[in-house]
Amino acid sequence: MRAYHNVLLAIGLMSQAAFAADAVDPDYLAFQQARGEAPWINAGAEHPLADSAYRPIPPLASFPTDPAKRDLGFALFHDATLSKDGTVGCNTCHMGMMGATDGLSLAKGIGGATGLRNTPTVFNSAFNFRQFWDGRAFDLDAQALGPITDPVEMGHDLDAVVAQLKADPGYASQFAAAYPDGVTAANVGNAIAQHSKDMTRTDSPFNAHLNDASNTLSEQAQRGLARFNALGCVSCHNGINVGGNSYQRTSALVGAGLARDELSPTASRARPAPTGAMAAADEGLFRRTGRDEDRQVFKVPTLHNISMTAPYFHDGSVATLEEAVAQMGQTQAGRTLSEEDVNDIVAFLGTLSSEFFSGGMMRGMSGEQLQHEMRQQMPDAMNHQNGGQMQGHDHQQHMMHMQHMQQMQNQNQSGNTDHNHTGSH
Ligand code: HEC
Ligand code: HEC
Repeated sequence: MRAYHNVLLAIGLMSQAAFAADAVDPDYLAFQQARGEAPWINAGAEHPLADSAYRPIPPLASFPTDPAKRDLGFALFHDATLSKDGTVGCNTCHMGMMGATDGLSLAKGIGGATGLRNTPTVFNSAFNFRQFWDGRAFDLDAQALGPITDPVEMGHDLDAVVAQLKADPGYASQFAAAYPDGVTAANVGNAIAQHSKDMTRTDSPFNAHLNDASNTLSEQAQRGLARFNALGCVSCHNGINVGGNSYQRTSALVGAGLARDELSPTASRARPAPTGAMAAADEGLFRRTGRDEDRQVFKVPTLHNISMTAPYFHDGSVATLEEAVAQMGQTQAGRTLSEEDVNDIVAFLGTLSSEFFSGGMMRGMSGEQLQHEMRQQMPDAMNHQNGGQMQGHDHQQHMMHMQHMQQMQNQNQSGNTDHNHTGSH
């Protein structure tokens, strides 16, 4: 326990250092005041592995979520009418079969607009110490309304969204049942956040292994884990989320002015053409603080489900996990990894994936194809296309469909955690 607290303390000190001169950031105070009070970060502190660098993801059943709010959030998360033109829901970009991402290098919102950053997973985001690549949202509640109003994501207006939900009898009664003040923007955010927390996946071989050592990983994955530890990857990627608990410079070399392309000239690049300049302009935490030492500083991403969330890094510049690992070895561990090390580490990282989603039937599809399918399947998007005007959807039908899907996932999740995993994928 004490060792873990030391890790937390060290992280706290690092965060403090990163923020020390940061008096202008209004989030900073809230962050300071709330630190130590975040139940998500401390969940599982009594676990026998609490002293270890890795901690199992606590079971969903131990989370204090309100079912009425969570189910409402589930419907909202999957509802494209929350976007200005009725074509984009949260799940358009955060698709389960793609590890709750979109398979694109940079996110694509309404009207095909391309965003600045790669879509991170929502799975297990409840355990991130802050949200977004630059940590600008303190928690999931604060995060949830951002995409709705972001011009290149869902491009909508919160007042209009609230009016629209109030006019929908199904939503209006659901909100009234869950919140005393009914439909408000804050309640929309809160409900969505409850669903995002519910998108915690515990059904990975590594999690099963942490919970019960008799669930052994494959030999190759064990070698990979040993290398991951020995190379110091664990110094940044640790804790419940194997990341998600500190800000770090993406690379001392990149910080010194050397571009990614120069570091790895043979790298395959997945990102579309004009975004090179945009990516270069994205300096992470620096965008918020304006301080030189925060250039190229990003929140360390979680590595759960990483084998499903290609392409990689904040700019989606790297197409394969092998290359992402090799590049991390070069920029963060300061060495060129052997092919064997890369493959072993990739095998280990594969054991961090949800078994339900990594075995999905849509697995072979490209991100573009999946997004197309998703947009086609959105009942609201279809209403909109057929009717011209934004219309209410059949709320009850939508809810039943969504709840059925969720039950399937949850059943699978609880069923899987008891199995003996080999970790081979
Ligand atoms: C157009 C694609 C798109 C849509 C639609 C979208 N997101 Fe995202 N999401 C992203 C991108 C890109 C980021 C990273 C943005 C950044 O860091 O600046 C992100 C970040 C997040 C994060 C933070 C994860 C982390 O590790 O920091 C969460 C949680 C999230 N989105 C949930 C949602 C919810 C809830 C909705 C619907 C209200 C939504 N997203 C809609 C693309 C999208
Ligand atoms: C000094 C801290 C640090 C160390 C050490 C470190 N990482 Fe990272 N890692 C990061 C940061 C920060 C990012 C996000 C970089 C970006 O988006 O530009 C990241 C991103 C990643 C990603 C891509 C995640 C995604 O969602 O796109 C992978 C995979 C990864 N690291 C694996 C490793 C491996 C393997 C090692 C050891 C060889 C390692 N990391 C060592 C900080 C670190």
